[in-house]
Amino acid sequence: MARMIVTPWEVRGEIDYERLIREFGTQRITPELLERIKKHTGELHFLLRRGIFFSHRDLDWILDEYEKGNRFYLYTGRGPSENVHIGHLVPWILTKWLQDKFDVKLYFQMTDDEKFLFKKNLTLEETNRLAYENALDVIALGFDHRKTFIFSDIDYAKTLYREAIKVAKRLTLSTAKAVFGFKNSNNVGEIFFTSMQAVPAFLESVKQGRNVPCLIPYGIDQDAHFRVARDILPKLGFYKPAAIHSKFFPGLLKGGKMSASDPRSAIFTTDSPEEIRKKVANAFTGGRDTIEEQRKLGGRPEICSVFKYYEFFFEPDDERLKEISSSCKKGERTCGECKQILTEKIVKFVEEHQKKREKARKVLDKFILRD
Ligand code: TYM
Repeated sequence: MARMIVTPWEVRGEIDYERLIREFGTQRITPELLERIKKHTGELHFLLRRGIFFSHRDLDWILDEYEKGNRFYLYTGRGPSENVHIGHLVPWILTKWLQDKFDVKLYFQMTDDEKFLFKKNLTLEETNRLAYENALDVIALGFDHRKTFIFSDIDYAKTLYREAIKVAKRLTLSTAKAVFGFKNSNNVGEIFFTSMQAVPAFLESVKQGRNVPCLIPYGIDQDAHFRVARDILPKLGFYKPAAIHSKFFPGLLKGGKMSASDPRSAIFTTDSPEEIRKKVANAFTGGRDTIEEQRKLGGRPEICSVFKYYEFFFEPDDERLKEISSSCKKGERTCGECKQILTEKIVKFVEEHQKKREKARKVLDKFILRD
């Protein structure tokens, strides 16, 4: 099996989430912590119930402060290098749920600077354009414009830069190399960049002139940035940001995460029904070689990418998800019909999302911070 690599710029191999908790030094989300969240929210989102958000840092502290009346704010983001795929939506969907349940503000960072610096073939004009295209996907999820502030690093640089250099001054080259694995061949912009991603983790404190707790939902691949931020922010007089981490929405092919670098592995929110049908038809399943074997031995949802689609996104009802799994294991549900039902669900979701995306163009300005 390929060696596991999980960095902000590369995710490879069989992912062992328990090992990530140990190596990154995060905490598991326990049933007790879930119960504590539920006390405030009344219910638990299926992404929490199913352990898709599996790890955290200082989420218990965020709840302590909240219970004392010290409200937190949310921060998350996107590196706009191309269209958005369904995997990206996972952390944003939980973020929206948290915003609604706790009635809190959200800063959403579009790192057009990052994608310009790290992607050889992209111009700054292109990543900046994509920042606003990708923002439509965020808005389409239903965020409240009175509480949601989206910005491009480039177009909000006057505010961000003066804070980023305070972080940069505390970050040595040797730490950046140790945390991110930078080599002498990396450009200096790449090395500086993490300072920009740290800023929204204390921006609300700067604006309010007092410390405000910050909670950051993200896929665990982004963690290195926030290990650095948690180390440096207290030295600048701010709280360490808290975090909640999601597993990776797997790709449609065998192994690996849904990744834009192999478009066959991912469903993009801009895909046409034909593209979706083709991708799902070619997806890796836990099915057997023949229908006869499938009926006799049953399928293997635990290794099936199609089943993961139901689990991560398209079947929020736990009972129905269980039914899909057990009828598959008993050999009653064939891969053909399972794929067909999933295809229709994805097509319906994507068509509706695309309509909301187009509507979002009209209200985009209400969400955007510029300076
Ligand atoms: P980016 O654009 O690579 O990813 C955006 C968010 O999506 C998560 N993600 C996934 N989650 C589940 N399954 C997947 N297959 C999957 N692929 C990606 C990422 O972990 C991320 O949360 N530098 C960042 C942008 C950023 C940011 C932030 C992200 C700026 N500030 C604060 C999170 C929190 C980036 O390039 O993300």
